[in-house]
Amino acid sequence: MPDTKKNFYVTTPIYYVNDVPHIGHAYTTVAADTIARYKRLKGCNVFFLTGTDEHGQKMEKAAATAGVPTIDFVDSVVPRYKELWAKLNISNDDFIRTTQERHKNAVTRLWETVQAKGDIFLGEYEDWYCVPCENFLTETQLKDGKCPDCGRPVEKLKEQSYFFRLSKYGEPLLKHIEANPDFIEPQGKRNEIVSFLKEGLRDLSVSRTTFSWGIPVPGDPKHVMYVWFDALTNYLTATGYPEGNNGFWPADIHIIGKDILRFHAIYWPAFLMSAGLPLPKKVFAHGWWTVDGQKMSKSKGNVVDPNQVADTYGVDQFRYFLLREVPFGVDGDFSLTSLVGRINSELANDYGNLLSRSVSMIDKYREGIVPVPDESKDREELEGRVKFLFGELPELYSSRIEGLNFYDALSKVWAVIRELNAYVDKSAPWKEKDEATLSNVLYNLAEGLRILSIYISPVMPQTAEKTRQTLGLDGNIEGAFDEETRWGGLKPGVKVLKTTPLFPRIQ
Ligand code: MSP
Repeated sequence: MPDTKKNFYVTTPIYYVNDVPHIGHAYTTVAADTIARYKRLKGCNVFFLTGTDEHGQKMEKAAATAGVPTIDFVDSVVPRYKELWAKLNISNDDFIRTTQERHKNAVTRLWETVQAKGDIFLGEYEDWYCVPCENFLTETQLKDGKCPDCGRPVEKLKEQSYFFRLSKYGEPLLKHIEANPDFIEPQGKRNEIVSFLKEGLRDLSVSRTTFSWGIPVPGDPKHVMYVWFDALTNYLTATGYPEGNNGFWPADIHIIGKDILRFHAIYWPAFLMSAGLPLPKKVFAHGWWTVDGQKMSKSKGNVVDPNQVADTYGVDQFRYFLLREVPFGVDGDFSLTSLVGRINSELANDYGNLLSRSVSMIDKYREGIVPVPDESKDREELEGRVKFLFGELPELYSSRIEGLNFYDALSKVWAVIRELNAYVDKSAPWKEKDEATLSNVLYNLAEGLRILSIYISPVMPQTAEKTRQTLGLDGNIEGAFDEETRWGGLKPGVKVLKTTPLFPRIQ
């Protein structure tokens, strides 16, 4: 049996709490939720982790600006994330905060292990630092004297610092990437990391002395650990490290945005190699959203609030749009015109209409009861194509979702939805009062919708549930993918329920 009870561990980045959540955070989290839900459908044991990144200079500064103790400041922002994830129907199994005791223990132990390996030494750091990115930079990396990644001003640092012997891990990392071609995806991003590694790595400063909001370095508490050493370890903490392993380490996939790939594809595996721990199986870097063609920024005032989009246009509509608008891995542009366009055409016209017309026909012609198909009729000519498409969909869909190609997976599903709509129009059995064909069409519609509810469930869980309620079907679909996507599973005789439109059209 494929995949049955295999463990599957997926993570999002842990989000900085110096700011409230925006569409970029929602994007990664919805994508991770979709893959987690799909894996549960396939019968896997899923562990899905998200959380918040709460230490570092950036947080200390934000709290100082707000005039409150740092812990109070971070405590006040964390619920904004938790509430958003509840609203967006995110099915995370754990929520980690880097200020938790379990995390401090894990990071301290990882540090000690790496130190015992001889990979940490005391030195002096003298160069540049970008606080918003929490990133160390050399003079030559600066662009017009500013951070090459975010374009903001950098600070000159000169302080005593512990260093991690990153330079030692360039070669082993290149070997690992070569031996595991899927370790970094998409391929273009993998190539960027390979070129970067080939230029050679310098040792990494992993402690700071000029502020105190962080985890103290063991044995030398005037230093706090570099926030990325702290943050990356969250993935391990949640699996029970250092006390044990809940069976989920190494992670199957870290889903991240392209801006934080180096931290995940270089620093993190190097720390793990040093500690003698297994590396995550995959790091996938997705693209960035612009808004109406512009970079999203507070100063431009164009930051998209996911709460507002979900409240105005619907949770499933928003989730669908995020994954359907652009291929995962490529940059995309968010615009209300495009969101409304997809809601009206793909959700209201194609899917919503299919469900409502099916239910009203079953209601009108068969008193709401799904009829027994009439085998006396030659059905191949009318139904052949629909059944063929449903037959090839499990494989087409799974291969794409497994590759995080949500865009393509959804377009395959929508091709079938459109075919089903076309099939009804072509057959038009009500016109000729052809009762046998009518029974067949009505059965096929209900059957098609039953199967479609499975395919859409990872992306639009509420819509899938409503569809299944309408068709009088079981709501618990965990482990049911293989069984439930096979044509012919619907028992005639079930009673369908009247529905209100799933996706009201938006003017
Ligand atoms: N705290 C670090 C991650 C530590 S993980 C061990 C961090 N946090 S963040 O809150 O700044 O960003 C989290 C994620 O949001 C990143 O993956 C980033 O790529 C993503 N996005 C931020 N802006 C985005 C867009 N405009 N579009 C898409 N994703 C964006 O980095």
